Amino acid sequence: MNVLGIETSCDETAAAVFNNDGLKSNIVTSQAIHFKYGGVVPELASREHIRLIVPIVQKALDDAGISIKQLGGIAVTYGPGLVGSLLVGLNFAKALSMSQKLPLIGVNHIEGHVFANFIEENDLKPPFICLIISGGHTQLVFVKDYGQYELLGKTRDDAAGEAYDKVAKMLNVGYPGGPLIDKMAKGANPEFINFPRPMLRDDNYDFSFSGIKTAVLYYIRKLNEQIIDKQKRDIVASFQAALVEVLVEKTIKASLNYGIKSIALAGGVASNSYLRNYMGKRAREHDMNLYIPDPQYCTDNAAMIACTGYFYLNKNIESYPDLAPKPSLKL
Ligand code: KG4
Ligand code: ZN
Repeated sequence: MNVLGIETSCDETAAAVFNNDGLKSNIVTSQAIHFKYGGVVPELASREHIRLIVPIVQKALDDAGISIKQLGGIAVTYGPGLVGSLLVGLNFAKALSMSQKLPLIGVNHIEGHVFANFIEENDLKPPFICLIISGGHTQLVFVKDYGQYELLGKTRDDAAGEAYDKVAKMLNVGYPGGPLIDKMAKGANPEFINFPRPMLRDDNYDFSFSGIKTAVLYYIRKLNEQIIDKQKRDIVASFQAALVEVLVEKTIKASLNYGIKSIALAGGVASNSYLRNYMGKRAREHDMNLYIPDPQYCTDNAAMIACTGYFYLNKNIESYPDLAPKPSLKL
């Protein structure tokens, strides 16, 4: 069965085709229009989705070498996300499903990030511990079975990606901040400043990142612009080291306490090179099996939505045609 996946929850317009043989095509357009505003402008995002959705879906079908008639189902993100953006993808998917008489499945974007681990063939199977780290979410989840999630902990304030983006803004690094800090920090000194590691030793699986961000702010407040410029790479490397240490150590702790040897990462921040290395090192030390999607499947994409939809549609699970967007949908 060829499943078309559609993702429009934020500022990526994306479509992909997934079938029995795996991923057949994967098209993602990151909307450049938001760059000059230093963040996503919801109204502009919706308008860009409207402009891009038809050509992106067409390109996904063309790349997969199939026509609409060869589709067996449609998967679409219905939350969480920006309501106007979700509406574009969802209404497009509903119209296509009705006109072509195809089953439709609404996919939870966060679950899609988890399923990104199943796009490429590997031996990952539940149960496993999954750290989901994106621009809007930071959650540590016990994946008991396919589609069965127990939330172990989450951030009490900023999401991991949000902290990256805010620190990047403070230091005029540019937008989007996460990938830029990732690049800048390479070869810099992560021990330059010992920023706090909030909640690292607390007896729970929650996170808090606003304190690290504030510590960066207090540090740079004392400095003039030239010194900031000189130290910038070491500052971002030190910020990153603090944030990543908490993420990794709490994930390792969950894996040890639950006796689950498999760990998976998901979400945009999982594409971070420092995190991937650090997590890899700690997992090896504990003889744990670590799974991380290829970076292109960590950041928002439709391959993960098509892959999730393929799983549910194959079990004959589908959504009602009156499916509505759920901007605050939880896992
Ligand atoms: O999963 P995602 O693409 O979208 C959401 O669902 O939020 O995650 C986006 C977040 C942004 O905050 C972005 O700065 C961060 O992921 N990000 C990174 C990297 N690539 C994306 N953070 C750190 N290092 C990266 N290489
Ligand atoms: Zn996402």
